Amino acid sequence: MHIVRAKRLPEGKKFLLKPAKELETRLLPPFALYENDELVMYCGILSASTNPLKKIIKEMDFMKAERSTGLKYESRCFGYYPAMGARNFHACRELVVPGIEALYEIGNRAYYTFASEFTQECAANRKRIDDGGIKNAYRIGGTTFASGIVNKNSALNYHYDRNNLRKSYNMMLVMRKGCTGGNLSLPEFGATVEVEDRTLFIFRARENIHGVTPMKIAKGGYRISIVYFTAERMKKCRAAKKEFKNARDIMDRSTRKKVGIN
Ligand SMILES: [Fe+2]
Repeated sequence: MHIVRAKRLPEGKKFLLKPAKELETRLLPPFALYENDELVMYCGILSASTNPLKKIIKEMDFMKAERSTGLKYESRCFGYYPAMGARNFHACRELVVPGIEALYEIGNRAYYTFASEFTQECAANRKRIDDGGIKNAYRIGGTTFASGIVNKNSALNYHYDRNNLRKSYNMMLVMRKGCTGGNLSLPEFGATVEVEDRTLFIFRARENIHGVTPMKIAKGGYRISIVYFTAERMKKCRAAKKEFKNARDIMDRSTRKKVGIN
């Protein structure tokens, strides 16, 4: 594996929210990018087959959305998510999609690729999640990730994954066919990672600016990324029984108020 030691360029920050660019330095998997002996990113090719997943994703209903910047994207969430009172979800819960077991299984396999090659970083990451009080019940299989999102054909402007637990790693698996562009760009390191089918990333996405470069998709082609992460707000998720009781109390109070019963 190629080891890359790099120093962060402070001017990289000026790219934030702008469209991602193909930068001059090209990084090809497998590599590990370090800054001051800290692992910023591991990138490799997953050895396991992704064929069962491709079928599931082909049938998946994606949610279309548009960001305030006008950027359109399609995605679908799965796994454990915190309560969202504004949307009337008052308990931490599991978002289930068809074929979720396959998404969990490939997540487990990919995670163990990381765990076996980066024992120290993996242990430190697990400690961070444990210390954060994120319960085992809200973790995907044997991993430390609570949640996932599948992105379809989405070029993403430069951003931080601000919802992630501080200094935690997330994991991303890309499947692609008939796609040009769609690379992962890291402006603070002046580099773009050339992404091929089954490219796997372990990445501190909260602390490092990243973006997906514009892409061209041929007929019948696709670029899918499956991102596994642990959100800071998962710290608030209590045992399921408490979550359900709390949600029921909130709903009960609001219903009684509506019908005028104290
Ligand atoms: Fe991201």
